Amino acid sequence: QSVAVLGAPFSRGQRRRGVEHGPKVIRDAGLIERLSGFDYSVHDFGDLDFHHFEKDEPYMDVKSPRNVGAANKMLSGAVSRAVGAGHTLVMLGGDHSLAIGSVGGHAQQSPDLCLIWVDAHADINTPMTSPSGNLHGLPVAFMLKELQDKMPDIPGFSWMKPFLSSRDLVYIGLRDVDPGEYHILKNLGIQYFTMRDIDRLGIQRVMEVTFDHLLARKQRPIHLSFDIDAFDPSLAPATGTPVNGGLTYREGIYITEEIHNTGLLSAMDLVEVNPMLGASREAVEATASLAVDVIASSLGQTREGAHPSIDVNS
Ligand code: ARG
Ligand code: MN
Ligand code: MN
Ligand code: MN
Repeated sequence: QSVAVLGAPFSRGQRRRGVEHGPKVIRDAGLIERLSGFDYSVHDFGDLDFHHFEKDEPYMDVKSPRNVGAANKMLSGAVSRAVGAGHTLVMLGGDHSLAIGSVGGHAQQSPDLCLIWVDAHADINTPMTSPSGNLHGLPVAFMLKELQDKMPDIPGFSWMKPFLSSRDLVYIGLRDVDPGEYHILKNLGIQYFTMRDIDRLGIQRVMEVTFDHLLARKQRPIHLSFDIDAFDPSLAPATGTPVNGGLTYREGIYITEEIHNTGLLSAMDLVEVNPMLGASREAVEATASLAVDVIASSLGQTREGAHPSIDVNS
């Protein structure tokens, strides 16, 4: 059992600078030290070094397509190698456009993976439906086979093709879904749980239905893509697109504990921590520390404690 941590300091999938410093603040909040306390080895692969393309005209309304495409190509290779080497991969973003490369690289090794997307947003716009032109609002549309004919040939993305079926995806935490996105979710019959669904069902039932949906037919690898803005902004203020009425701390941690308990988590993303957006240093540190808690709990930290596997007297 080993974990690989990979930083992806990239922000061109949206317009607010600062989210490229996410990997640094999450590490500074003690991520590696926290994971070292567990009984597997931790490999810190450092941060990817993305090439920047000066000339990158928008395609339709979509901003920075070549930069986002190239970054994701590099990321997918790195994720594929890490997963292929047998590591459980933790990708630190960066903005959520990076999920294209992260889930894509994971899928190269595990074509039968399923995807749990924890987020205030569905990130399933196409270039036609996007209200912003920001690529962090489109990553799921790149992945889905069912949306292939809705996705034009965007410059920078010729290296990838869709790899995921809409039935292999579940959303948790939605509360800001654009009209075009709602249409896609309904049309494809995608399983999703909004904050209202969590209010009605409770987070325990939501996780039961999630695993029924994804794992009942067969056990397969899970990719968790966790956008920190899924949490309520009172807990995660340092993020680019906060939306009121988000997950409580306990709901968020329950989600990751349950995912760990399946024993099937194979890769995860923790994205959209932007240290330039907190109102204070405390706000930034609280957001980064929450990110560490989410990752640690996904990898087996429990609230009931554990028997250390090493001799505590030595
Ligand atoms: N739906 C909006 C858009 O397409 C917001 C997306 C926010 N995405 C995110 N990863 N925070 O621009
Ligand atoms: Mn979001
Ligand atoms: Mn997102
Ligand atoms: Mn465990």
